[in-house]
Amino acid sequence: MKLVGKTAVVTGAASGIGWATAETLAAAEACVIVADIARDQGEAAASTLQKKGFKAEYVHLDVTDDMSIAKFTETVQAKMGGADIVVNGAGWGQIKAFWDMPLDVWSKIVALNLVGPMKLVKSFLPKMMERNSGKIVNVSSDAGRVGSSGETVYAGAKGGLIAFTKSLAREVARYNINVNCVCPGPTETPLLFAVPEKHLEAFKRAIPFRRFGKPQEVADAILFFVSSRSDYITGQVLSVNGGLTMVG
Ligand SMILES: NC(=O)c1ccc[n+]([C@@H]2O[C@H](COP(=O)([O-])OP(=O)(O)OC[C@H]3O[C@@H](n4cnc5c(N)ncnc54)[C@H](O)[C@@H]3O)[C@@H](O)[C@H]2O)c1
Repeated sequence: MKLVGKTAVVTGAASGIGWATAETLAAAEACVIVADIARDQGEAAASTLQKKGFKAEYVHLDVTDDMSIAKFTETVQAKMGGADIVVNGAGWGQIKAFWDMPLDVWSKIVALNLVGPMKLVKSFLPKMMERNSGKIVNVSSDAGRVGSSGETVYAGAKGGLIAFTKSLAREVARYNINVNCVCPGPTETPLLFAVPEKHLEAFKRAIPFRRFGKPQEVADAILFFVSSRSDYITGQVLSVNGGLTMVG
């Protein structure tokens, strides 16, 4: 699957699933904009890709900050004339009982996993509509499909991202823009390894394949959704989870 001549914005590209996605899309010959709040890690990620001979550049982005989104979009428009592909990979959550979670943590979770991705998409849409083409992939979570104890606010935000994906897919189909969603199950990234050991063991026992996912396995699903192989697929939700959930 080749992405020659395409510009791909990947948020959260400094780590985990975002990083695997950035590397995969760059290897498919897209020019990848490594978008992340972590400047040092983001610059290092872009430089690693460049050293491999891939086209990549780091542009700072805080998905939870309107000014940052505006500046980011302006920079990408100026340098690349817009984005052909937007992958909303940045995300974060915390495991805590719903009633114990402080409101400021709620706000961060909703801003990062739902409202920020919606704003980023809105900022890149006009150019995609003008060009009559585009691919948008939102990284949600199985938590957003089936719920997850201790991740109630996160699940709410990720569920919102799924509903956003489907509705937007309907609205922008007339502009030849595909909007799809990938839901990782527990995947081997720094985010997962922040979860207490006892939860990790329980997760693993519940997965039919009895192992966690690898970031590359999620990136491969994202590659499919941003490539021409999925031109007739929109508004869909694909779990990459070793069979943990099987939603009909
Ligand atoms: N790892 C899992 O088990 C798992 C499971 C389900 C869903 N997910 C989802 O997959 C996505 C990627 O997660 P991951 O596991 O690779 O996490 P990760 O922590 O390895 O990477 C997340 C990246 O997002 C960046 N980021 C955080 N806040 C940001 C902000 N405000 N603006 C821009 N960038 C920001 C971080 O700097 C980091 O580079 C997230 O949306 C996450 O919710 C992960």
